[in-house]
Amino acid sequence: MKGNFPLSKWERLQTPFYYYDTELLRNTLDTVKAASEKYNYHVHYAVKANANSRILSIVREYGMGADCVSGGEIQAALEAGFPPEKIVFAGVGKADWEINLGLEHNILCFNVESIPELEVINELAQAKEKIASVALRINPEIDAHTHSFITTGIKENKFGINLDQLDKVLDRLTELPYIKLIGLHFHIGSQVLDMKPFKKLCSRVKEIQQQLAKRDVAVEHINFGGGLGIDYDHPNREPIPDFETYFEVFHKHFAAAPNQQIHFEPGRSIVAQCGSLISRVLYVKEGSEKKFAILDAGFTDLIRPALYDAYHKIENLSSDEKKETYDVVGPICESSDCFVKDMELNKAHRGDWIAIRSAGAYGEIMASQYNCRSLPKAYFSDLL
Ligand code: LLP
Repeated sequence: MKGNFPLSKWERLQTPFYYYDTELLRNTLDTVKAASEKYNYHVHYAVKANANSRILSIVREYGMGADCVSGGEIQAALEAGFPPEKIVFAGVGKADWEINLGLEHNILCFNVESIPELEVINELAQAKEKIASVALRINPEIDAHTHSFITTGIKENKFGINLDQLDKVLDRLTELPYIKLIGLHFHIGSQVLDMKPFKKLCSRVKEIQQQLAKRDVAVEHINFGGGLGIDYDHPNREPIPDFETYFEVFHKHFAAAPNQQIHFEPGRSIVAQCGSLISRVLYVKEGSEKKFAILDAGFTDLIRPALYDAYHKIENLSSDEKKETYDVVGPICESSDCFVKDMELNKAHRGDWIAIRSAGAYGEIMASQYNCRSLPKAYFSDLL
């Protein structure tokens, strides 16, 4: 089954471009909202997945907070109207100006990853005569069994405070008067479809809380990060990820203390399925061993296949002719500029419309201008 796209409205548009189905985005947001509110969970949209200003404004309408990893993301979130008290700021390397920006806006908290970072935040907060609220990002040492580039919670990753260092960090915290510890933060990886690692995370967080209790430390906020995956093989089958089951796992396996707030930072699961990269076939090239469908989109528009060997479903929207086998490639002067090898596609012709599906997350935002190419534009189903 192919997606349903309004080709007639696209004739005047220059390809490649991102096309966002705002009805699907809104339905997804309704689902997240209902599923999280059931347990009083707080959701902060992970801006890194897609910071398109219209997408941010739509997400903001649903009352979510924002999970930011740079000063630029904080600015984008503020411009889209996210309230500062719902902004969390993570990242292993926060620059001074980024910390100052967070302090000036009194964001909810800094997710801190090391003692040197705590010391810098303490110093910058002191200069502003403010108390910075922080959550410790702890590396829970749980393998989410996802792509090695997007696994974040195992011991060797650069992310988070290792469990065996936690006591040292807590000791140092007692000496930093401009820091207030309000929470713990975790994130085990992205595109996680198996719920077992999330269950393990719940047990690990319980253990850590017990460790903290021995020192009389209790935290008000637990943030389980993001990571829920989506179905790249069948974007139309269940376009809205199963948020009910996801949140239920945490509800069943983690009992929050009274007055404790539980937070999540989904990115991909909210925006991936509503976006497609739309392109046209420039040439069909018959090599001696392979047939290539050469698109006007390349890895500058969507880098996930080249960078992570990620699979995106590709559809020829213009043809119902018998399927043929193609390598679907872009125009960029690198062999890695290939969206997929040996894919069955309805027979392709110059000018055919091609949809590269499930590209709403980590698509437009990771675009580059390599080869002096233009950044892809974005169009929305409700504004065409
Ligand atoms: N919170 C933290 C601390 C994160 O590092 C991430 C993603 C998220 C939340 C959101 O995770 P999500 O719900 O989207 O899985 N560019 C890669 C994905 C990188 C994810 C980085 N961190 C890709 O295209 O697959």
